[in-house]
Amino acid sequence: MNPDSSSAAGTFEQVFGAPPQGVWAAPGRVNLIGEHTDYNAGFVMPLALPHATVAAVSRRDDGVLALASDGMPGGPAELRTDTLAPGVRPDWTAYPAGVVWALREAGHTVGGACVSVTSTVPAGAGLSSSAALEVATALALNDLYALGLTREELATLCRRAENAYVGVPSGIMDQMASACCTAGHVLHLDTRDLIRRQVPFDLAAAGLRLLVIDTRVTHDLADGGYAERRAACTEAAAALGAGSLREIPHEGLADALGRLPDARLRRAARHVVTENRRVERVVELLDAGRPRDIGPVLDAGHVSLRDDFRVSCPELDLATGAARAAGALGARMTGGGFGGSALALVEAASAETVGRAVTGAFAAAGYRTPRVFEAVASAGARRLDAGVPG
Ligand code: GLA
Repeated sequence: MNPDSSSAAGTFEQVFGAPPQGVWAAPGRVNLIGEHTDYNAGFVMPLALPHATVAAVSRRDDGVLALASDGMPGGPAELRTDTLAPGVRPDWTAYPAGVVWALREAGHTVGGACVSVTSTVPAGAGLSSSAALEVATALALNDLYALGLTREELATLCRRAENAYVGVPSGIMDQMASACCTAGHVLHLDTRDLIRRQVPFDLAAAGLRLLVIDTRVTHDLADGGYAERRAACTEAAAALGAGSLREIPHEGLADALGRLPDARLRRAARHVVTENRRVERVVELLDAGRPRDIGPVLDAGHVSLRDDFRVSCPELDLATGAARAAGALGARMTGGGFGGSALALVEAASAETVGRAVTGAFAAAGYRTPRVFEAVASAGARRLDAGVPG
């Protein structure tokens, strides 16, 4: 699960015939609370997973970007950096290519690179495997080309790669989480101005665990559901004369709902405004040393995503319901929804019981066996080897 620098370097050497100049890793994430708030200038609270994408990279200045991954047949894909254009690469290479495109669009000199990637972040599970790939690539190029960009700037460019090059209309949460999370903390991020704070999150010390339940129902954010929700939020904000739903205070919610013309916009606004409030509540509880008490807030978040925002699905509802019935303190879907993963906060002593109960419930319902694992707040993106860039 933990990134392995030497095997990534070994794969690179097999493909490119020389050792890489360096090896970088960027993690996937799970979001504790604050869902569908990041494109509403609101609050999010992700933590980095131990699962990461590792990129072994060397600089080259002949204008070629050569991309390889383990298990990719037929050798590396070779692209010319000066002809990269949005929307033309239908596979994983769109992410690193998009990062090079975004860096060059922003005026940075990136002549080319050899890149070989391996990843332990489950793809399509709502755990930000794409952001991990983008951020690992961006961090490597930042070092190798001595671009001097901050993590915030790198995350912003990675989001641009995802939005404008790959064509997925995501917010900034995933890239910021991968770039800026730190071990032992959950990242309290204000997506309006990227102001952030690392909130201590040592569940083990409190006798607790956070379980991730990957339903193995693949979600695809490029599908219409995500964009539709975004559009409803934009319409609701406009109908309220606000720049974003972030501007609607929780105390003003009833009044705002009364001014919205239809149920669809009312539901969208209610989710976003109450979700921002839930993030603040979770921060207060964690700061007060009361991690057990966030359970009901997580439950309320799930209800809001299921009933108001309507981005859950039967597998996510079953995962959270079975976890709660088996003693979880709280459980909710996490990430964009329509599949992907749920999380459950459990007493350490009941982690196995909860995992078994969820797996049993999936078997009884005839669903695919879910993947259940513990999320320990891990390090954000970093260079793994000690080498000095050439
Ligand atoms: C996906 C997007 C994020 C965010 C979440 C929902 O993960 O990539 O930007 O919008 O959905 O919170």
